[in-house]
Amino acid sequence: MSGLRAALFFMRSRFSILFAALSLAIPGGSLAADNNNAVAIEALSRLKDVDLDANPPVKNAVLRIVESTKGTAQFVELVRDFKLKGQDAALLEYAMAHPSESAAADAVRLLMENKSDALIEKTLKGSDANKLIEPLGNTGEKQIVPYLLPLLTDASRDLTVRQRALRSLVQVQDGASELLKLAKNEKLPADLKLVASSELNNARWAAIKSEAALVLPPPQGQNAEPLPSISELMKRTGDPQRGAEIFQSPQVACASCHQVNGKGIDFGPKLSEIGTKLGKDALYASILDPNAGISFGYETWQLELKNGDEGYGLIASETESELMIKSAGGILTRFKKSDVVKREKLATSTMPSGLQQAMTVQQLVDLIEYLTTLKKAVE
Ligand code: HEC
Repeated sequence: MSGLRAALFFMRSRFSILFAALSLAIPGGSLAADNNNAVAIEALSRLKDVDLDANPPVKNAVLRIVESTKGTAQFVELVRDFKLKGQDAALLEYAMAHPSESAAADAVRLLMENKSDALIEKTLKGSDANKLIEPLGNTGEKQIVPYLLPLLTDASRDLTVRQRALRSLVQVQDGASELLKLAKNEKLPADLKLVASSELNNARWAAIKSEAALVLPPPQGQNAEPLPSISELMKRTGDPQRGAEIFQSPQVACASCHQVNGKGIDFGPKLSEIGTKLGKDALYASILDPNAGISFGYETWQLELKNGDEGYGLIASETESELMIKSAGGILTRFKKSDVVKREKLATSTMPSGLQQAMTVQQLVDLIEYLTTLKKAVE
């Protein structure tokens, strides 16, 4: 197989590579067919810019290979790279089968580009709406607002659908400000107020955050007790077992950004050995003031795009023509550099400040106790 791969690689003309690749693509399920398909797909991915409509036989062959990748992330990539039309149903199916993945957001972005409004709206009316609402939010595009905003106030929909729609909306600035507007005009249903408050008070847009603190103040009670100084906190001992529960809990949600021993979402640094790396004081500081020391390689970037959308997150990779941004939730988004009008490194961490407000002082102490137990295994 490696000989074959090398042969493909060295063939000079792009079309001869393509035809070699295509002739290898054997529909069917045998191992040999799978391997040949892998080679064919790899060769194809080098031919992104071929104008398929000018080459009908090539187009047919490409479609055959694309067909064989249906249901995989590669399918979404090929549809995007070859600008294939008529794949919307399959794109939607992929997105809904893998709603939390980056490729699902890519698939939904393609649906919006293709103006597949009817398909999107029909799905949002259905019982599986949440499987589309999640990747819609992960696109980070302001186009999602008109789809999702009406769901919030639609009393005929389940609370889970309305909450999911709210969380997706606040992933874009326009969505967050529309939500705030609903709250200000007292149009926000009572059963959404708590989620809205916690999302908007953790929003990354300063103006929205400060207005939210007035319109939808964070729930009191948890943090009514004033926080002692770090040196005072360090004298206390906590229960690491309970700390582990706080770490995983939805209201504090450390695990939505950090992995411990492979569990959790891979966004911020892995914390499996954080108890070896940081002492108690530094652990407290990293939660109470995430902006004070941003870990190397985890700097926050903000992109401003030609169409007014923005990118926000860590730079996962960069080539001459593209930037890959990783945002909270571990979602990867590719941006063409030619679409980026401004690129700015922020002084703030993507880790929100104020997370201790969702905990009692004792819960914070338990959480830190838990983190100190995460140590490199001794051999
Ligand atoms: C929205 C995502 C997000 C959430 C939620 C989050 N973090 Fe973070 N965290 C990050 C990122 C990104 C970094 C790296 C940048 C930095 O140092 O600020 C980080 C850094 C850290 C560090 C320092 C790691 C090191 O190697 O120096 C610790 C410790 C930490 N987080 C603990 C927590 C705990 C505990 C919680 C829950 C209370 C939490 N984080 C919630 C994203 C998040």
